[in-house]
Amino acid sequence: MPVKDLRALLKHELGDLYFAEKHILKALKKMTKEAMDPALRQRMVQHQGETEGHIERIERAFRALDLKPKAQKCPGILGIIEEHEEFKSEERPSKETLAAFDMGSGLRVEHYEIAAYRGAIALSKALGEREVADLLAQNLAEEVDMEKFLVTNGARALKEAARVEAA
Ligand SMILES: [Fe+2]
Ligand SMILES: [Fe+2]
Repeated sequence: MPVKDLRALLKHELGDLYFAEKHILKALKKMTKEAMDPALRQRMVQHQGETEGHIERIERAFRALDLKPKAQKCPGILGIIEEHEEFKSEERPSKETLAAFDMGSGLRVEHYEIAAYRGAIALSKALGEREVADLLAQNLAEEVDMEKFLVTNGARALKEAARVEAA
């Protein structure tokens, strides 16, 4: 269907996020198993629960607009996930190297989500859709927290991995 106005664009963006979050949930479950750092693994399990909440909030945002939730294929997130899978099959990394690689993959996913939510929130506000903006802002806050965790915890875990490798 052609996207001819801002309201149709918001529907498109919600569909894109809906698709992305569903695929992220699947990828996150796989990546959680690859994590070697206990604190990171625990945080990833927590983010699985948060991601389920993101999907529910997007469904509520659709309903706030009197729309049925409908996913819109999002090649951006599929590309990030595919890159992760390709690295595994083509480079056949050690468990430790894969865990380190996953820090970068996780950050790429969170940054994608943060950018997509920021755009959709600005659009919702421009259209006066307060409820949609609030729901998406709640998701955004959890993505920002996860991104911060990955940066700080990731740096710590990578230092430890480099120390073990050098020993
Ligand atoms: Fe999310
Ligand atoms: Fe996330």
